[in-house]
Amino acid sequence: MQRVIPKLLTWYSENYRQLPWRETQNPYHIWVSEIILQQTRVDQGLSYYYRFLDKFPEIHDLAHASEAEILKVWQGLGYYARARNMQKAAKMILSTFNGVFPLNYTEILQLPGVGNYTAAAIASFAFKLPVAAIDGNVKRVISRFIGIDTPIDKMAFLKSTQQYLNEQIPRTNPDIFNQAMIELGAMVCTPTQPKCLSCALLDECYAAREAKQNLYPVVAKKQKATNWTINYALVENAGEILLSKRESKGIWGGLHEFPQLSEKYPLEKEKKIAEFEHKLSHKNITAHLFKIDSDSHLSLENKDLVWVKLENINFFPMHKLMLKFVEYLGWK
Ligand code: ADE
Ligand code: SF4
Repeated sequence: MQRVIPKLLTWYSENYRQLPWRETQNPYHIWVSEIILQQTRVDQGLSYYYRFLDKFPEIHDLAHASEAEILKVWQGLGYYARARNMQKAAKMILSTFNGVFPLNYTEILQLPGVGNYTAAAIASFAFKLPVAAIDGNVKRVISRFIGIDTPIDKMAFLKSTQQYLNEQIPRTNPDIFNQAMIELGAMVCTPTQPKCLSCALLDECYAAREAKQNLYPVVAKKQKATNWTINYALVENAGEILLSKRESKGIWGGLHEFPQLSEKYPLEKEKKIAEFEHKLSHKNITAHLFKIDSDSHLSLENKDLVWVKLENINFFPMHKLMLKFVEYLGWK
């Protein structure tokens, strides 16, 4: 792709979106932005980015924060293991790397929650190392540009693309090449209706030449989502409600929710207050909320039950499904 790289860089310099993480070489800031952007789109990610760095301006602030503080800032982004991994990584930077963000690709890759893409993004954006940062956007661009028939979610796809782009990436300003590829995927080579006529890669693009844009990227068959029912209990007493804190593992680890009723609990005579559907990547959840008069006869399979005053409920980090109930009940 050497012939089109100058066009790509020119296009980027004339068209890029000014984003705060593109104005910095601070590896901590770049890392925070990349983890947030794995969870959400740029427009929503901006406010999370500012709030996160406002609350934890330095690595040691993050390392020394309480889990609840971190989850609170992360609230709504989902996949809370990411936030907890960030704290583990911050602690590791203090203990293993003497408080200095690691400055080469292999060491960055050792940080919890940092995979190939994130390590390459930090290594190139902060330290100008020539490693290709291959996220979903870049995978789509390359899959079309070359016409790769391996599904993009297969390891073999990443391996060959990483090798190819590591050879292609310019040794001077590799960071700009990576930003340009990400930006091209986000703005031009979009999932549907790519804007090939204004694309910097058009001259050498396989999919455009063959009019096969819609056939790439190839995706492997999706795993089918499983259905999951949750029955929550609203137990209220003198202006307080009962919350349960989940065990620290899993995607909702450490977050608060209503206590769950056991599967055997006889629900027929109970009053249902609300019901919400919630989709996770491989689960379709139907959650019911029942008003339960007393907690004394419940067999609640819950960890860490706490009575919480209604006016304090928003201090507790909660997952998105739980927040649907909280909003529905007018508590937020
Ligand atoms: N998505 C992931 N990384 C990004 C970046 N650096 N700029 C814009 N969007 C991104
Ligand atoms: Fe994507 Fe079209 Fe550009 Fe090829 S020419 S990289 S298909 S936008």
